[in-house]
Amino acid sequence: MHSNALIPAAILALSTTILAQDPGQSAPFQLKLKADGCPTYDGVYLYACHEGAAIEGLCTGNTTAEVEAWNTFGLNYTTSGVPIDPKVGQQGILTWVLEYATGNLSSAMSLYADPATNVGIPLFEPSYGSTPVSFDEDNVMNIPSYLDDTVEPPAARETTIGLRRWYVCQNYYSGYSYVKSLSWVYGEGEPQNPSCERVDVVRVFL
Ligand SMILES: *[C@@H]1O[C@H](CO)[C@@H](O)[C@H](O)[C@H]1NC(C)=O
Ligand SMILES: *[C@@H]1O[C@H](CO)[C@@H](O)[C@H](O)[C@H]1NC(C)=O
Ligand SMILES: *[C@@H]1O[C@H](CO)[C@@H](O)[C@H](O)[C@H]1NC(C)=O
Repeated sequence: MHSNALIPAAILALSTTILAQDPGQSAPFQLKLKADGCPTYDGVYLYACHEGAAIEGLCTGNTTAEVEAWNTFGLNYTTSGVPIDPKVGQQGILTWVLEYATGNLSSAMSLYADPATNVGIPLFEPSYGSTPVSFDEDNVMNIPSYLDDTVEPPAARETTIGLRRWYVCQNYYSGYSYVKSLSWVYGEGEPQNPSCERVDVVRVFL
């Protein structure tokens, strides 16, 4: 027999998530890099840049950015009514609206993984999956996770933690390789791509 006390908090949180789906939307914001060790990217705004048909990555722009469709993002909450750890923040999907000739299409950010590398690429792609993100009390973006597979057997952490494994890298994706774009490094190791520089991503409300 199980008692609730034996069920890891993360699993309880997950089931609460499923029960409490009541999506709301954040106010619109821009995304700005903080890179203490890298002046090239410190203070630079991200913008949605073309990486295929209706596929956008997050490229590095300038240290000033007029509010434009290509640098305005939103967060559609996927959880509500669950206790929020301010060090992680409320979970949601990062959205960006593609404006095209006859309409507007809201796309969700999902991480693209290529088995050849530990560097993943956040991409906005309509009708695709989504990778949940959160913004902590300092508006710094993380990916919430409760998995710990560095122990044997792999386990769920007591509480969800906010992972910050953001980098800017020059990636090769479907023929596009000229851009420096926001990237994610899987696991605790260093990126194998030598162009990667460590950054944090900060939300700046309009
Ligand atoms: C960066 O600034 C240059 C020069 O003002 C401008 O041409 C370019 O469009 C800007 N890039 C972005 C992504 O805003
Ligand atoms: C798309 O969104 C923009 C900005 O909110 C708006 O000005 C425009 O009218 C919208 N276009 C359509 C076709 O709904
Ligand atoms: C985000 O929420 C808005 C408002 O509910 C909705 O119109 C839009 O389609 C959502 N975007 C995604 C990618 O789910």
